[in-house]
Amino acid sequence: MLNIGVLASGRGSNFQALIDAVESGIIKNAALRLLLTDNPGAFALERAGKHGIESLALAPKQFSSRDVYFARVAEEMQKRDIGLIVLAGFMRIVGRPLITAYPNRIMNIHPALLPSFPGLHGQRDAADYGVKLAGCTVHFVDEGMDTGPVIIQAAVPVLDEDTEETLSARILRCEHKIYPEAVRLFAEGRLEVKGRKVMTKTVTAPDDALLIWPSPGA
Ligand code: GRF
Repeated sequence: MLNIGVLASGRGSNFQALIDAVESGIIKNAALRLLLTDNPGAFALERAGKHGIESLALAPKQFSSRDVYFARVAEEMQKRDIGLIVLAGFMRIVGRPLITAYPNRIMNIHPALLPSFPGLHGQRDAADYGVKLAGCTVHFVDEGMDTGPVIIQAAVPVLDEDTEETLSARILRCEHKIYPEAVRLFAEGRLEVKGRKVMTKTVTAPDDALLIWPSPGA
């Protein structure tokens, strides 16, 4: 049984997608054991309460340094025998003490097709740049900002009339699909990290051109 710990700072819709996937049995042999937040006002806390998941709010300003904060986070995770940490809208760069305690066992979701558009405004940066395909990425976390090995990605079209809001909403629907899928692969022991690459032991090869946008002939 894999014990999962979640770090979230806000509304927690990705956390909810994981709750739903565990409760419906899409992710098997795994349990969401702890929601830890840096924000006592996070809506994610209500989601945890509703689904009987233990939660803990730790405000970084009550700690003497970033390292001390993340050492405490690591301790709380280890105390509960957490095997995978999932960042679900956690608005901080993870500190070294947590990364060294959980190498290749921390995942993040980013609302862009990395390595394009890292940082806080992935959807807006993609829309402003004028790309035709945007998307989202689940990756393992290293010490950089959105730089760790990529696990799974999904692409969505960018429409002429898109705003940051409409594009973000389309991307978010994909986030809710690929995050549970990444966690499922991890829980089933299907992910193997080799340098920058994450092998998923996927057997079927898709078409060469899976998604062309605008579609040919449109
Ligand atoms: C998502 O867009 C995610 O990609 C980014 O932060 C947002 C969190 O949304 N890292 P939610 O809290 O999961 O609803």
